[in-house]
Amino acid sequence: MKIFGVDIGGSGIKGAPVDLDRGELAQERHKVLTPHPATPASVADGVAEVVGHFDWQGPVGITFPGVVTGGITRTAANVDKGWIDTDARALLSDRIGQPVTILNDADAAGVAEMTFGAGRGRKGTVIMLTLGTGIGSAVFTGGQLVPNTELGHLELHGHDAEKRASTKAKEDEDLSWHHWAHRVQKYLVHVEMLFSPELFIIGGGVSRKAEKFLPLIEHVRAEMVPAELQNNAGIVGAAMAAAGK
Ligand code: BGC
Repeated sequence: MKIFGVDIGGSGIKGAPVDLDRGELAQERHKVLTPHPATPASVADGVAEVVGHFDWQGPVGITFPGVVTGGITRTAANVDKGWIDTDARALLSDRIGQPVTILNDADAAGVAEMTFGAGRGRKGTVIMLTLGTGIGSAVFTGGQLVPNTELGHLELHGHDAEKRASTKAKEDEDLSWHHWAHRVQKYLVHVEMLFSPELFIIGGGVSRKAEKFLPLIEHVRAEMVPAELQNNAGIVGAAMAAAGK
């Protein structure tokens, strides 16, 4: 079965039809740049362009980089504040003319990793963290997701954790891998103190370069592995959500 998945990120809006039996993109993905400011109307135009590129008819799953409950977007840390309390499901399904399911980006990526990637078959507490423009989290136990955890906004030494340990912080402050890994380590130690997971899955675009920073991280008891679906996890997870999986 194929369902369309779209991932709304801080830098790009990416989408493709997804083969749900294999957990893979069925066609090469199409990407447009995220508009700035990323208002609901301008992002909806971007989503419509991505879906229109494939002439897709049918259900569409869409990720959003904030809390989503019942199709309503509730927070907007790294997108325009106009998203707060917007009926995003209605807005996007009207704009693209297809039924839409919308969920948090890290939750989508986590669900995909638990089914097709690094979390397959893991029954204990698993925490997926996506390091990107912000830090997203997805928490699982017994394979079940606790939706809308916001562990990227834990306070660490008086700072919002994502402002210190996201890949955006690394770029903005021009941090070395070593320096940034030290910050990620402090963050992981803190999350571990709170949740004692058996496994951390590290996702986001930087998971492609895991060998540059994961070996530098010490003092974390849990296993730490890079995401396997890498940057397509959000798209795959969005499509799974639209299929009711
Ligand atoms: C948001 C999360 C999101 C994460 C990654 C955070 O700033 O609050 O909801 O999952 O960024 O995009």
